[in-house]
Amino acid sequence: MELVWSKKLSVGNASLDAEHQQIIKLVNEVDRAIGAKNMARFSQTLKQLEEAAREHFLNEAKIARAIDYDFNQHNIEHHYILREMQLIETELDAQHGSWSASVAEHYFQFLSTWAIDHIDEDDMKMKALLVARPYHFKPGDFSD
Ligand SMILES: [Fe+2]
Repeated sequence: MELVWSKKLSVGNASLDAEHQQIIKLVNEVDRAIGAKNMARFSQTLKQLEEAAREHFLNEAKIARAIDYDFNQHNIEHHYILREMQLIETELDAQHGSWSASVAEHYFQFLSTWAIDHIDEDDMKMKALLVARPYHFKPGDFSD
């Protein structure tokens, strides 16, 4: 099932919302690659997702620092999911992409659950502090 970003997933910051939308788009692309049984594409999209997540976590950490939000728990989560994504990639590479559809589907479920929990549970905790700033706030806009 396609994941859809809607306003209720907004965490109150333009760059974080845009990155979350990109992450959701890539999780959907992983799903489409699985549906098409295109394992090369699955592997490639997973790498793009990992890259997008890595950049997003850096931006998120910068913003958290700027708004004085304690980011320790998020950092632990971020290390965990990046490691999981790497394990999935390693697994895929080792099997030369010859995964059964059910195995690939399992990983898609894992990634989509993570994407929604990351936004709706973890990042939502920052929303109260984020909405106190302009929607387009970026660290460095003010002295931080
Ligand atoms: Fe996030």
